[in-house]
Amino acid sequence: MFPMADQLVGGVFPMADQLVNGVFPMAGPSGRAPTIDDVKPSTDAPKLLARFLASFWTPTTRSMRGWAMASVVVNAGITVTGAGVRVTASGLGCPTWPRCTPDSFIPVAHPEVSPLNMAVEFGNRLLTFLVLAVGVACVLAALRLAPRRTSLVRLAWLQPVGIVAQALWGGLVVNTMLNPFTVGTHYLISSGLIAACWLLYARAGEGDGPVLRVAHGDIRRLGHGLLAAVFALLVIGVVVSGTGPHSGDAMASRFDLDIEAVARLHADMAYVVVGLTFALLFALHVTNAPRPARRAAMGLFGVELLQGVIGYTQYFLAVPAALVLLHVLGSTVVWIAALRVVTSLRTRDRTDSPVSHSPTEAAAAV
Ligand code: HEM
Repeated sequence: MFPMADQLVGGVFPMADQLVNGVFPMAGPSGRAPTIDDVKPSTDAPKLLARFLASFWTPTTRSMRGWAMASVVVNAGITVTGAGVRVTASGLGCPTWPRCTPDSFIPVAHPEVSPLNMAVEFGNRLLTFLVLAVGVACVLAALRLAPRRTSLVRLAWLQPVGIVAQALWGGLVVNTMLNPFTVGTHYLISSGLIAACWLLYARAGEGDGPVLRVAHGDIRRLGHGLLAAVFALLVIGVVVSGTGPHSGDAMASRFDLDIEAVARLHADMAYVVVGLTFALLFALHVTNAPRPARRAAMGLFGVELLQGVIGYTQYFLAVPAALVLLHVLGSTVVWIAALRVVTSLRTRDRTDSPVSHSPTEAAAAV
């Protein structure tokens, strides 16, 4: 499916195997090469390093899911730090892209930019590398998982590809002087990336058989409608931000909209989302749906209520920066909770694809 990538990874496999095996002082139980599960928790630095390398080089389903969850966390984190750039008015702290200043990739004194704004904006640029590294670890883990599952490999590739796309979009954000359309879209692309990592996390825990419904078809449709409504809420949210006072820089333009009207529309949409979530909870309860689905819907309901409280508080306090940050974190958590609801309403059979064997585990099983 990805022949070039396979060659690339295949070419470095022997070297990396040596590296991983070099830091594993012992073989696994039955004389086979060790996997991550053979390395006992220890504060011993080499063992921790070995455990870390094994988590993507000789992955198990558990470590594959761990990397997918790490990707959810770092992608969620960068939405909050990105908002931090906006609310500290550091959006043009590095006034050019990809260089921070016209002549330097790293921050250097600039007559028109404060060092603090530069440090905040550059710090956020650096975080891209952390997010990318976690995305690459997802790809390696998906490629190395045995038996290899095309579904996981495809989802994993969305990470580095999406992060590079986001880095390029970040250039557009700077070059358009923080145009609110480009800033808002930047957030929404991150929401798409988070959906891809969440799906990777969920799919890694199931097989590749046909989809099995764990709730009535109408309830699943309600779940999909709810997810679409949450996404619409995020879209209206970024329009509110693009109209409000936190533009990221005094020179940035704003949407020419009535802030009160868009904020009211945003709050109305939040009521629609809360109503749909309540309906879903009720439907899951009366049909005695499995506990994980009910728990996921309850979790979503809880974070929505918290987010509503934060939303109204920040609105009435004239959007103080700290609350805006909390609200962005809350938005991303609401999105993840809604994705969790949808994936909890279905599963896939494991029969088509035995899961949880790293290359070494598979060899040992023969
Ligand atoms: C589940 C409920 C909610 C979700 C998921 C949500 C989501 C969002 C999102 C994604 C943004 C844009 C963040 C950004 O561009 O960085 C936003 C902004 C905003 N939201 Fe909400 N929101 C919710 C409820 C509310 C409520 C009830 C209010 C009350 C009026 C509210 C008021 C605001 C305001 C004032 C902004 C603009 C903040 C700024 O200046 O950047 N939100 N919201």
